[in-house]
Amino acid sequence: MVLRVVLSAKIIMSKLAAEFAPNMESVTTGKVIRHSPVTVWFTGLSGAGKSTLALALERRLIGNGRACHVLDGDNIRQGLSRDLGFSAADRCENIRRVAEVAKLMNDAGLIVISAFISPYRSDREMAREIIGADKFLEVHLSTPLEVCELRDVKGMYKKARAGEIDDFTGVSAPYELPLNPVISIDTSVGSVDDALKQLYKILSRVLLNSR
Ligand code: ADX
Repeated sequence: MVLRVVLSAKIIMSKLAAEFAPNMESVTTGKVIRHSPVTVWFTGLSGAGKSTLALALERRLIGNGRACHVLDGDNIRQGLSRDLGFSAADRCENIRRVAEVAKLMNDAGLIVISAFISPYRSDREMAREIIGADKFLEVHLSTPLEVCELRDVKGMYKKARAGEIDDFTGVSAPYELPLNPVISIDTSVGSVDDALKQLYKILSRVLLNSR
């Protein structure tokens, strides 16, 4: 009797395994989705064009039928990281959280495009480790400080120079240049479309999983 119950349980389980296993495996090995679920990690000064280019890249990929999502200050610092400020320790924690979220989204099959200043090399290396070196594509927006400061989209450089904001990257806090980014783009030279073209040329083979 007991043996029969165990045997029928085993038969049911193996049927279930047969039904479920192939799909799960094909999703994780990239056979179902037509892209590589990687993280494109934009880093650069405030005003360098990270969010603008991240959103342009997202639009382009979605237009090509690829599932992707942008993580930036707008959706992270107002929610998940709203308890954090801009000390080195808080920025480190912000980047850790972003990287953990990016990893989960990659696991779910999404291309993630993140746009954070992420000024410390060690924090970006932590993100690379969390996400996985093979899935982490570092893109440096190298737009010079003077240009970012002239743009001053949110009026924050002015406030930082006046001493109204502490620890402002490029003014009273450091920005450590990436040593080996996949690409560096200076958005003060050329249009958003030019920058997107450069980026797409480099990334599309990886992103679109063209095998
Ligand atoms: S990070 O250093 O932790 O990566 P993050 O990209 O999330 O920073 O946030 C940067 C944005 O927060 C800037 O574009 C700016 O609008 C705003 N901000 C407010 N205070 C600061 C500060 N002290 N330094 C830099 N950015 C600041």
